[in-house]
Amino acid sequence: MAAEPSGRAQWSSSLGFVLAAVGSAVGLGNMWRFSYLAAEHGGAVFVVLYIMLILLVGLPIMLAEFVVGRASKQSPVQAFIRLGGKAWRPVGYLCVISGFLILAYYGVIAGWVVRYTWDGLVTGFAGDAGAHFGRIAEGLDAIFLQVIFMAMTVGIVAAGVRGGIERAAVYLMPVLFAIVAGIAIYVAFLEGAAAGYREYLVPDFGALFNLEVFAAAASQAFFSLSLGMGALLTYASYLSRSDHLPRESMVIAGTDFAVAFVAGLMVFPIIFALGLGAVVGESTVGALFISLPTAFAEMGATGRVIGALFFIALFVGALTSAISLLEVVVSASIDGLGWSRLRAALVGGVAITIIGIPTALDLNWLTIYDSISGKVFLVLGGLLLSLFVGWRMKDPIAEAGRGAPGVRWLGFWRMWLRYVIPLILLLILYYSVPASIADVRGAIQQLRQPTEVVAPPVDPEALPVPLDEVPLPEGAGPPPDEAE
Ligand code: TRP
Repeated sequence: MAAEPSGRAQWSSSLGFVLAAVGSAVGLGNMWRFSYLAAEHGGAVFVVLYIMLILLVGLPIMLAEFVVGRASKQSPVQAFIRLGGKAWRPVGYLCVISGFLILAYYGVIAGWVVRYTWDGLVTGFAGDAGAHFGRIAEGLDAIFLQVIFMAMTVGIVAAGVRGGIERAAVYLMPVLFAIVAGIAIYVAFLEGAAAGYREYLVPDFGALFNLEVFAAAASQAFFSLSLGMGALLTYASYLSRSDHLPRESMVIAGTDFAVAFVAGLMVFPIIFALGLGAVVGESTVGALFISLPTAFAEMGATGRVIGALFFIALFVGALTSAISLLEVVVSASIDGLGWSRLRAALVGGVAITIIGIPTALDLNWLTIYDSISGKVFLVLGGLLLSLFVGWRMKDPIAEAGRGAPGVRWLGFWRMWLRYVIPLILLLILYYSVPASIADVRGAIQQLRQPTEVVAPPVDPEALPVPLDEVPLPEGAGPPPDEAE
């Protein structure tokens, strides 16, 4: 385990930093959730709305996170204290709590990805993907897979900023880019590709001026860009002074969007080439872990290769994202409690894994964690951060301009953070707080009435939450008559 150099760890290069941040951003959110949301909520109209939200909300907040991180050279809790005083400490805690909550369930989903990667490489995809998913998604299998994934995450974070996080990003991200681009090109030649593109992108102008769609696009932007919980703030705290932060923000956000968009071009044709379109309507995670593997299984040898590559890419995305989530918790423990990196990574990783176990036992917990963190905490974190940089922090403009001579819109950026973004985010919270409460209520109700004999009809509109509405094929558990 490489020891950190004395003093604060640093990236070895700007490219290392940018790739690590891209690694954080590109993850499960990109590989399926984005295109699924687009297909649900207006196709190309959603894509345009999403781009606008990235430009108007995502980029300014990303730059704000970078500026706070680089100016303070501290992890979230200490950063807010140092630059804003003790009163801002709770904002740092909110970041750490969000990190706990998100990684807790993210690790479970990533565990499924580990399993499917294994299937693709070693055993082949199960013909009955629905039953297969029912078997592995909840219970001991799920916990086992979650632990494997979390152990890898802890290992990389423990190896340090440069020797672990940066190295993983520099080696792994190009692999992900190559796979996603390669598969997207390959599937363009499949019969049925056009139907897939149509399902993904056909514009529906009704989606405009719809607060639900707007809120969905906004929380997707936060989640996908890793904003609102100090992950990018923490990464920026390992920067030297000279980076051109405005430009790097654009590169990172642009890459994140590009991967999400191309991932849709990759996924939809696969499903539609096999006429599995109907399955897609059911749920986000269900489609990712049921209809795609079904398609791979039906595509024979090619499907095996494509499927294995697909899940490798998904695994890479999940791993480099999970690293950034854990790093928030780890760096806060190093800076705040004086722990060693190894200790912080181990304790943090174990604690998060334990907190995640309920989500591995019952997917209703996953709904609860995801809805609270995604719909509320991240947006709230973004709101508080904009208020902080807009009103409280001393001279964020100078900090943002360091290494970025000639960028003239920084004064405008601060005004935007001060007045406009808080209003936008309040509007989103106005919609998403009640929505999240409804999600949680619904999930708790389902928790209370365990194993139904007959599979309840899953209403896809009932829980418009992103990573959650997994319709277990057989109600709450693996079908009893299903032999492995
Ligand atoms: N952005 C990642 C994804 O799209 C997930 C993620 C990593 C994240 N770090 C984060 C989300 C910090 C919110 C905050 O899958």
